[in-house]
Amino acid sequence: MTYLITGGAGFIGSHLVEALLRRGERVVCLDNFNDYYSPDRKWRNITVAQSYPGYSLVQGDVRDRDLVEAIFAQHRPDYVAHLAAMAGPRPSTRNPQLYESVNVGGTVNLLSVAARHGVKGLVLASTSSVYGKSPTPWSEESSTDRPLSPYAATKKAAEVISYTFHHQYGIPTRVVRFFTVYGPRGRPDMTPHLFVDAMVAGRPITLYEGGVGVYRDWTYIDDIIGGVLAALDSHIPYDIFNLGNANPVQLCDFITALEQITGYRAMIEPRPLPAADPPITYANTEKAQRLLGFQPSTTLEEGLSHFWLWYQEKVLQERHAP
Ligand SMILES: NC(=O)c1ccc[n+]([C@@H]2O[C@H](COP(=O)([O-])OP(=O)(O)OC[C@H]3O[C@@H](n4cnc5c(N)ncnc54)[C@H](O)[C@@H]3O)[C@@H](O)[C@H]2O)c1
Repeated sequence: MTYLITGGAGFIGSHLVEALLRRGERVVCLDNFNDYYSPDRKWRNITVAQSYPGYSLVQGDVRDRDLVEAIFAQHRPDYVAHLAAMAGPRPSTRNPQLYESVNVGGTVNLLSVAARHGVKGLVLASTSSVYGKSPTPWSEESSTDRPLSPYAATKKAAEVISYTFHHQYGIPTRVVRFFTVYGPRGRPDMTPHLFVDAMVAGRPITLYEGGVGVYRDWTYIDDIIGGVLAALDSHIPYDIFNLGNANPVQLCDFITALEQITGYRAMIEPRPLPAADPPITYANTEKAQRLLGFQPSTTLEEGLSHFWLWYQEKVLQERHAP
């Protein structure tokens, strides 16, 4: 089978691409290698994938109608996983137009072309951010009417229009809401990377609400990829699934775990929580367990150890390379 993975050079996308290639699938990766963070990082993310004969790379923008049309005409993907997006709630407050253009416009463009060509299944990457400050734990039925950032609002909009395309054109669609994903290749703008950067450099880390009032439902990348593969393989016509760990960790406990694993001490710079961030994220994953067999199994300590190993091998070594 042929899979089109948008955003396939990013953190989650590059892991998904490799998992599909290992399974023997053909994979087309569409990514524009934008500079939200270092494009060099993204090129390094795809080095393993490039060694597979079944891998094709298209460097371009998911908003480019002619390009997406050409990809479908040439490769005829059976399945699509749409991960390309401007990610990150806080930066979205500075440039909401860009987030709307990529996350909504890009999704509509992709769905329009997929509708005309027909696909066996489409998975849309969404986010726990859609829940805002709704009471936790969040099931898929929890309110998503009050997103706290333009990023969250654009993801919600993409979810809603994916339903419309399913309804109008019968595209089998599974929406997956990721909960704070971490692991090797983790985004440099996300907490584990930012904290380890600061700890290694002897700089203070920004600690919101004293680390006491903030909880995150950290979900390891391999567990997420298991959920995305199950969503791709599923025959459910349309549904929404939480992919989280169902085990929120207090920020101060997260820092203690990082200190123990890295051997570095964290210096603390206290700050109030930004308005774009919810104090707690907490997934109810009962539906994903029941319908997708989703069963995250990586403990925070295991996952952070893998992250730290990758960080030392790749990030620190590259930084010190001549
Ligand atoms: N990492 C998380 O914790 C998390 C949580 C919730 C949701 N998500 C969602 O998962 C998806 C993947 O996130 P990630 O953490 O891997 O982010 P990422 O930034 O590493 O990956 C996104 C990729 O999309 C590409 N891209 C962006 N705009 C594009 C465009 N216009 N055309 C083509 N490619 C484009 C980027 O170059 C990047 O490689 C995103 O949709 C994100 O919103 C991630």
